[in-house]
Amino acid sequence: MQLTSDLTITKSPHTRIHEVDFSHLEFGRHTTDHMFVADYKNGEWQTPTIVPYSNLSLNPVTLALHYGQTVFEGMKAFRMADKNVSLFRPFKHHERFNTSLTRMCMPNVPEDLFIQGIHKLVEIDSAWVPSEEGSSLYIRPFMIASEERFGVKVSDEYKFIIVAGPVGPYYAMPLRLRIEREYVRAARGGTGYAKCGGNYGGAFLPTQLAKQDGYDQVMWTDAVEHKYIEECGTMNLLFRINDVIVTPTLSSSILDGVTRDSILTLAADMDFTVEKRQVSVEEIRDGFKGNTMQEAFGAGTAAVVAPVQTINIDGEDFDLPAWNEKSFMMQVKMKLSNIRRGVDADNYEWNYIV
Ligand code: COI
Repeated sequence: MQLTSDLTITKSPHTRIHEVDFSHLEFGRHTTDHMFVADYKNGEWQTPTIVPYSNLSLNPVTLALHYGQTVFEGMKAFRMADKNVSLFRPFKHHERFNTSLTRMCMPNVPEDLFIQGIHKLVEIDSAWVPSEEGSSLYIRPFMIASEERFGVKVSDEYKFIIVAGPVGPYYAMPLRLRIEREYVRAARGGTGYAKCGGNYGGAFLPTQLAKQDGYDQVMWTDAVEHKYIEECGTMNLLFRINDVIVTPTLSSSILDGVTRDSILTLAADMDFTVEKRQVSVEEIRDGFKGNTMQEAFGAGTAAVVAPVQTINIDGEDFDLPAWNEKSFMMQVKMKLSNIRRGVDADNYEWNYIV
């Protein structure tokens, strides 16, 4: 079924683009002129539509507001050197969206609806794709349970919406992270690998406590022993230890980051040894004490590559060595950016040209 062949489009009579200062883009501040909406009812997807960006009207007993059936994706469109617009790995994001939806008992979105929905929205709002260095159009596909009921139940109705907005860097400064040994983001068998709203809401309190103490984020550890590093909640974590690129192996409590996957692929191309395995807090501490901890950074769609400056382990701050253009994280960030901009060859067919 080609749902999007019947797509209806209502153009906004005016644009808000002139309100945006593209040279100082804050992450998440602006949205484009349009949004894509598709409803799921009676067991099937209804004809989708693109309409002027607007508020939603929700009944107070809309199930998503009470029982948390909400899932989202985060992906980006880039302005290429030849002025074309490309989506970065949209098929991988679609796959992950459906993995999250399945975990939350929500209907999967057909590939055509997801890809064509994003394609059409980005095409209509293409003037919003920034060309400034380090900027992109952030795309937020999401789904909410829209049935109106008090009872605790799996919703029979859903809204799949795509919105977008121009963004600059998510983290402006190198990060100070605190290893979390008390609170838990996700346990094995839980929803940690799904991009559902509750994972983020549950992380706010420990993150706020870390912020009060001067840290930007927490580094989550496993729920059983608090011994092994998991991820950051807003991004995956990677280390360069003794010249090897090391990252926690994926599990049901860690999000399968698209940027993480891309960086690991490029690291192997750059002749680095890559190890996906358990990373203990003790290994991190020993790495600092024995001077083998060379780099630590976060990787995520929003964060891209976010250098870590300090890691707090059990109350003690450890500083990473200063980095420069030759550091692995800076080289791989540049490589990724060059592929996205069409400057370097796209050997893995990650770019989807709109
Ligand atoms: C993303 O990287 O796209 C995320 O969804 C995480 C959040 C920081 C926006």
